[in-house]
Amino acid sequence: MTMTDKFTILGFAGSLRKGSFNKSILRAAAELIPSGVVIEIFDLEGIPPFNQDLDQQAPEKVKEFKARIRAADALLIATPEYNYSIPGVLKNAIDWGSRPHGDNSFEDKPVAIMGASPGMLGTARAQYHLRQSCVFLNMHPLNKPEVMVPFAHEKSTRTAGSLTKNQES
Ligand code: FNR
Repeated sequence: MTMTDKFTILGFAGSLRKGSFNKSILRAAAELIPSGVVIEIFDLEGIPPFNQDLDQQAPEKVKEFKARIRAADALLIATPEYNYSIPGVLKNAIDWGSRPHGDNSFEDKPVAIMGASPGMLGTARAQYHLRQSCVFLNMHPLNKPEVMVPFAHEKSTRTAGSLTKNQES
């Protein structure tokens, strides 16, 4: 990054759902961002299931994902919680992004993590699993703030204003 460039954060949500709460908080974060910083959102839709036989000939969508990760100054991951862990869609994308061996696009990348759930723990358990993968990926996850949005179905996170209001309440 040069002094004149914007600091670019690549955000992605571990959900393909149209009405995803996690896509929603990502959009809200993009609205709340200070000047000089930009959040670009990458949709994981279209990334096929990982097959190690193909990791030397990654699909186009994966090549694009890895290039966007490498071009970003930092990442922002919004993870749902599925069965006390991260969804397969997110793990699958991370697995593709880390391969083939020696071509880990996450290497040395700062990352912030957040998540939203209708449950009372707001994806806490999934976020700690995600942090575990960050160790092997040699990323630099931000310790705090921890952003866990519980009871997401009761909140409107469609705008930055409402997210701010929810955080204050
Ligand atoms: C869930 N959900 C869920 N929620 C939670 O807080 N803890 C959990 O362990 C689980 N487990 C779980 C498993 C599966 C297979 C599904 C489909 C759902 C509910 C989940 O938080 C909810 O569907 C969210 O809306 C998913 O996030 P998006 O798609 O709104 O971003």
